[in-house]
Amino acid sequence: MASTSQNRVPKVSVLLSISISISIYFFFFFFNGVGVEAQTSPVFACDVSSNPNLTNYGFCDKSLGVDKRVSDLVKRLTLQEKITFLVDSAGNVSRLGIPKYEWWSEALHGVSYVGPGTHFSALVPGATSFPQVILTAASFNTSLFRAIGKVVSTEARAMYNVGLAGLTFWSPNVNIFRDPRWGRGQETPGEDPKLSSKYAANYVRGLQDSDDGCDRLKVAACCKHYTAYDLDNWKGVDRFHFDAIVTKQDMDDTFQPPFKSCVLDGNVASVMCSFNKINGIPACADPDLLAGVVRGQWKLNGYIVADCDSVDVIYNSQHYTKTPEEAAAKTILAGLNLDCGSFLGQHTEAAVTQGLVHESAIDQAVSYNFATLMRLGFFDGDPRKGTYGKLGPKDVCTPKSQKLAREAARQGIVLLKNNANTLPLSSSAIKSLAVIGPNANVTKTMIGNYEGTPCKYTTPFQGLTASVATTFSQGCDVACTNPQIDDAKKIAAAADATVLIMGADLSIEAEGRDRVDLLLPGQQATLVTEVAKASKGPVILIIMSGGGFDIQFAKDDDKIPSILWVGYPGEAGGAAIADIVFGSYNPSGRLPMTWYPQSYVDKVPMTNMNMRPDPATGYPGRSYRFYTGPTVYTFGDGLSYSQFSHHLVRAPKLLSIPLEEGHICHTSKCKSIDVVQQTCQNLAFDIHLRVRNAGSMSGSHTVFLFSSPPAVHNAPQKHLLGFEKVFLESQSEGIVRFKVDACKDLSVVDEVGSRKVALGLHVLHVGNLKHSLNVRI
Ligand SMILES: *[C@@H]1O[C@H](CO)[C@@H](O)[C@H](O)[C@H]1NC(C)=O
Ligand SMILES: *[C@@H]1O[C@H](CO)[C@@H](O)[C@H](O)[C@H]1NC(C)=O
Ligand SMILES: *[C@@H]1O[C@H](CO)[C@@H](O)[C@H](O)[C@H]1NC(C)=O
Ligand SMILES: *[C@@H]1O[C@H](CO)[C@@H](O)[C@H](O)[C@H]1NC(C)=O
Repeated sequence: MASTSQNRVPKVSVLLSISISISIYFFFFFFNGVGVEAQTSPVFACDVSSNPNLTNYGFCDKSLGVDKRVSDLVKRLTLQEKITFLVDSAGNVSRLGIPKYEWWSEALHGVSYVGPGTHFSALVPGATSFPQVILTAASFNTSLFRAIGKVVSTEARAMYNVGLAGLTFWSPNVNIFRDPRWGRGQETPGEDPKLSSKYAANYVRGLQDSDDGCDRLKVAACCKHYTAYDLDNWKGVDRFHFDAIVTKQDMDDTFQPPFKSCVLDGNVASVMCSFNKINGIPACADPDLLAGVVRGQWKLNGYIVADCDSVDVIYNSQHYTKTPEEAAAKTILAGLNLDCGSFLGQHTEAAVTQGLVHESAIDQAVSYNFATLMRLGFFDGDPRKGTYGKLGPKDVCTPKSQKLAREAARQGIVLLKNNANTLPLSSSAIKSLAVIGPNANVTKTMIGNYEGTPCKYTTPFQGLTASVATTFSQGCDVACTNPQIDDAKKIAAAADATVLIMGADLSIEAEGRDRVDLLLPGQQATLVTEVAKASKGPVILIIMSGGGFDIQFAKDDDKIPSILWVGYPGEAGGAAIADIVFGSYNPSGRLPMTWYPQSYVDKVPMTNMNMRPDPATGYPGRSYRFYTGPTVYTFGDGLSYSQFSHHLVRAPKLLSIPLEEGHICHTSKCKSIDVVQQTCQNLAFDIHLRVRNAGSMSGSHTVFLFSSPPAVHNAPQKHLLGFEKVFLESQSEGIVRFKVDACKDLSVVDEVGSRKVALGLHVLHVGNLKHSLNVRI
């Protein structure tokens, strides 16, 4: 089956190149007509070939260190000139050979056209569009996160070289997916701080790390939106006015970890502060969060940028300051370096004149911005002579990149239900397939938001049609107010099997659009149930969505033996779905977020940021770490066509924490020990597991190591210490090793935000295995 669909590829590329050459003709005709030439060369500074004088400037001297070059440059600029480098649409300084630069580009899951810094044209009509991040996260494969980042940065550099992209990309989004209603949950790696941290560090490294091992940046990534931002627009509360009330404990053990890992492990070149207020202070005006934590504690090597127009929002919507100059001064003094928008460009000079902020603070801010551009090679003259100089349009949408897009989708897709091993469908037994539903033949829906133009699309219908004879009925659109049920029933009754592809799209969940409930839109559930009743063969329900849905009705319906969640699976989504449905790929994705029942939204206002339950009010808490109520599916759920078993080979039963003499816990009874350097030395241990694939299909399997700490400090009931994905041939086994650092991994954050290792029994879980570890002094 796989070969059938691969054989189709050449035909498609012929069509594609015909349409490219047509658009090239059109393009030149059009632009010649109005006398504008399309830009096909990169923007860069220090072009000594056009101005030999530039060789005299220290900032153009590649042999000097970044800091020296930056201070040389800043010294040469007037205050007015410096201020033009505080905004995304930065100024040019012709006398110094510095052209205009647009800082705003995006590359969430492929080079994107969102953001004015990047465009597609006849020269590069599309870029590889990987699955939306929530599905990639479901692969739980850190090398995949990095591999995708690497392809994206190669395509970005290729587009930069022909003047179509910038070098600074405001991706990834690593906010915790706290509430299933959040319209931007799709952009994130899910609800777990550990998974989000690993995603952040690996995707960033994939984007940034230089291909030749030097310390230069390939492109600059940006972890956003710092912090505790995960509400867009819910029942009249929007992100521009929302004040997130966050406890110290939730802040440090839920909202901050992905950003911390992004900076410390990913070495990211930028952090973006968010629109919302946190405990009364706008994130971009909070000196503790910016200068204190990101710059001070984590030592960001790069720049802090404000979400687009958020400095304006601070003044005009949040009325946090009395004057615009005050807003400019406060944000810069808090540690902001760059404004996406024009506010700082307009009001900073007056802020300096009024004495609200000293020019040295402007120097500091632009220095971080310039240093980033230096590390990108922007001041090194023509980039086509540099490390990535050979990259160009031929390196975008290569067969290899597009294969990775398909591979990423199949690694992420989650098998949620598979009664009687209905899947995979056997292509010898199933001769006809009814393909039904609003998302059954979609293109754009598959790529979610912060998208680019993909290389090409394979819709689910097209993917399935490549394997078997199909009939098609849309049934309804996503809103599904008036389904054409009879038509759909008719084809289901005639086919050997039925695939229903339902779910959401950007009209249901998106930036600026949170959901108010968790049910499938409109009459989708009715369509599913009615079609299932009428169908002749087995029914496969496929949910295409970012957030989870209450699909308990389908989970309970014996007429629906199989359910798959496919996220927004990217340009090759349809091919990946067919790979799984027909068994050329063994599913291995696991849910990166809990799927709650509809009753959840009645109990939990989206505006309540608390992760922990509150028995006094009946508030049930959030995420698998704290929530104790009923779920439809939970974090980590996902089946395979094989069965995997775990056997513990090595794990300690006892861990003694060495305390210095005279430590208070020697004499009084302590529930936990502070995580301090001294106690934490040599507190790492190994856990070894034997994992067996007892099934008849080879496949990949994610081993999750969870721990339930002793019930002190409102600790999570369970949290993920680590995960490891392994590939195993059928009937084979392998060893999986975890290195556990007691202070880092076993610790919990207490009520005032300090890390502690709880004393007592920590129960480690892997699948059905449970192992008790006694931690004592
Ligand atoms: C280079 O410097 C000389 C001397 O200052 C000046 O006359 C000339 O215009 C400069 N060239 C450019 C291209 O700026
Ligand atoms: C920016 O470039 C424009 C167009 O080349 C030029 O007119 C203008 O003087 C430049 N601005 C500065 C500050 O050099
Ligand atoms: C499926 O979608 C493709 C791409 O948009 C379109 O060309 C084709 O006609 C559609 N097929 C059906 C059966 O609607
Ligand atoms: C993880 O992803 C990489 C890149 O696609 C792939 O080569 C590898 O096989 C995957 N690992 C597992 C265990 O599936």
